[in-house]
Amino acid sequence: MTVVDLNQQRIDAWNSDNLPIYEPGLDEVVKACRGKNLFFSTDCEAAIRAAQCIFVSVNTPTKKTGLGKGKAADLTYWESAARNIAAWSTSDKIIVEKSTVPVRTAEAIEKVLLRNCPAPGVHFDILSNPEFLAEGTAIDDLTAPDRVLIGGKIENDRGTAACAALVDVYANWVPRERILTANLWSAELSKLTANAMLAQRISSINAISALCECTGADVSQVSFAIGKDSRIGPKFLNASVGFGGSCFQKDILNLAYICECHGLQEVADYWYSVVGMNDYQKTRFVRRVVSAMFNTIRNKKIAMLGFAFKKDTGDTRETPAIDVAAGMIEDGAKIALYDPQVPEEQVRMDMGEEAMKSITCYKNPTDALKDAHAVTIMTEWDEFKTYDWKEIYEVMHKPAFVFDGRNILDHAHLSEIGFIVYALGKPIDPFLKSAEGA
Ligand code: UGA
Repeated sequence: MTVVDLNQQRIDAWNSDNLPIYEPGLDEVVKACRGKNLFFSTDCEAAIRAAQCIFVSVNTPTKKTGLGKGKAADLTYWESAARNIAAWSTSDKIIVEKSTVPVRTAEAIEKVLLRNCPAPGVHFDILSNPEFLAEGTAIDDLTAPDRVLIGGKIENDRGTAACAALVDVYANWVPRERILTANLWSAELSKLTANAMLAQRISSINAISALCECTGADVSQVSFAIGKDSRIGPKFLNASVGFGGSCFQKDILNLAYICECHGLQEVADYWYSVVGMNDYQKTRFVRRVVSAMFNTIRNKKIAMLGFAFKKDTGDTRETPAIDVAAGMIEDGAKIALYDPQVPEEQVRMDMGEEAMKSITCYKNPTDALKDAHAVTIMTEWDEFKTYDWKEIYEVMHKPAFVFDGRNILDHAHLSEIGFIVYALGKPIDPFLKSAEGA
């Protein structure tokens, strides 16, 4: 397996002791295999020539300009990878779509490959093999996946043979009954649908969390009760300040855009509403913070614990913390940020120079929490649960507030200490009740 990238710095990092991304278990895998059957290189041409099978795993971000801007997937990197593959291939290749792509991308890519390959008689088989692993649990998801999905032109012999070749690769460690084959378009669409359905579950429970706060119901109890229905199941029912990550929003917008392109406006609107609910949840959280703190957070130090879009990753793409921080800064807050994995430069890139005038990043939680008026929990890092909250209470301004955007802390214990606690979808503290509706 040779991993190639044009970026020399990145490849150097993959070849060093400091891998460019943080993922539990990844160091061990890389260290065990690097130099034996795993290589990192910038020599794309040599790797392409030598390969029988090429996984294309380039970025497919949301288009920022032009037709479909803000919704459609930008396939620039995909197309340029395909052009390089075509230019350098001198033997048959199986091309595997690993990147998440719009339905029927394989068709477009095939045209690019066929028309740009100067070598005579070279054949490309295109397969779709969407990736379902999640950050933070990527290695477990890889070694024991729920399923592996391989889409190909199973209606003809060549396509079936290409699928079988990739099935054989996975069968080295995945039981065959978990390796599914499908036609190309089904595989491509399954990826977008899986992410859209997962995000929709979160938006649904987040919608219910708002209703819980109005009615005195507790969203955790509701999640638990409905999750016991085997048709619903218990996973992905944790109310949160909003889903983040590089994929959910991007994939839903892309799915909705494809629907629009096919004239299915109602279907598109249904999926847009999942993103709309996610935005609402973030806005609602900021409103809670401001209204609870007597309608003003101007110049108040607000400790923000966590910036990554979820625990066990340093990834901040589309993290709800960005919008929440921006919302609080708009109201004049001074944010004291601590995340165990996210470096200050990343926060700067996400928030911009202007916002950074109101954000101080700390290397330890103690300094972030000292003299704060409130704490907002943005990421469900386990370490936040282990803090001595009594000690924290002592060093904060009073009344001291905790806004738990992930429902991970022991709220009864915090209230006992003296904190005013807001937890998403939980019965509202009487202190906050008077501020409701703000
Ligand atoms: C997601 C999918 O889960 C993967 O299957 C998929 O392969 C991946 O996108 C992708 O397309 O690359 P990921 O974004 O890494 O994986 O993380 P998730 O665990 O799905 O979490 C996404 C967001 O939803 C996080 O912000 C998380 O905190 C939030 N979430 C998750 C909730 O708010 N509540 C939940 O109950 C679960």
